[in-house]
Amino acid sequence: MRLDVVTLFPDWFDWFRAQRHVANALAGGHQLRTLDLREHTPLSGGQVDDTPFGGGAGMVLRVDVMDAALRAFYDADPVDLRAQRRVIALTPGGRLLDDRLVDELAQEPDITLLCGRYEGFDERIVEHFATDAISIGEYVLAGGELAAMVVCDAVMRKLPGALGHSDSALEESFSAALGGYPEYPQYTRPAEYRGWKVPDVLLSGHHEEIRSWRLQRSRERGAADDD
Ligand code: ADE
Repeated sequence: MRLDVVTLFPDWFDWFRAQRHVANALAGGHQLRTLDLREHTPLSGGQVDDTPFGGGAGMVLRVDVMDAALRAFYDADPVDLRAQRRVIALTPGGRLLDDRLVDELAQEPDITLLCGRYEGFDERIVEHFATDAISIGEYVLAGGELAAMVVCDAVMRKLPGALGHSDSALEESFSAALGGYPEYPQYTRPAEYRGWKVPDVLLSGHHEEIRSWRLQRSRERGAADDD
């Protein structure tokens, strides 16, 4: 998979690239590139944003700046780019990221993530350059960079070879294997600590019983979350 992030803060991703599962995915042939919006701005003084028409607080990322950056990087009109790759604008008003969407994105060969800053994007960026708008939660971050890292993290750990164990991402919270429910509780050694015991069934070696106990707990957790 090739992931490109359009950002005003490309340095932030140096740390991210060094994290183990990301580094594993990159060593396995996947790519994570950053594209510095400011480097390509046609405006003087590195300007990338402007005040909103109609008034209001903050600054808005300009559509001509995004156009110039994408055009320089891909050597194509960004409007046409959407036919070739998934282009995702990160914005609090977008589709909420969940495991299903992460699975969907993990199947894509190429993804471009657009990070907004300040008050966000000129809406024409979302309308004409993006295929999707995605939100990582109903709160507002200072910019899309952390949201882009959340998307990359969640997607990259689904790629074969990123996690140490091939089954690690299969039966986890919200996966199809668990019927979309949260993950069951996990325990490790010691089997008893300060009088807190690990459930007997997990020490029993009965795989069927363990499986059914886990599914049951997972469902109960899901039901508790709905309350
Ligand atoms: N940019 C600012 N806040 C965001 C959020 N909650 N999700 C995605 N992008 C954002």
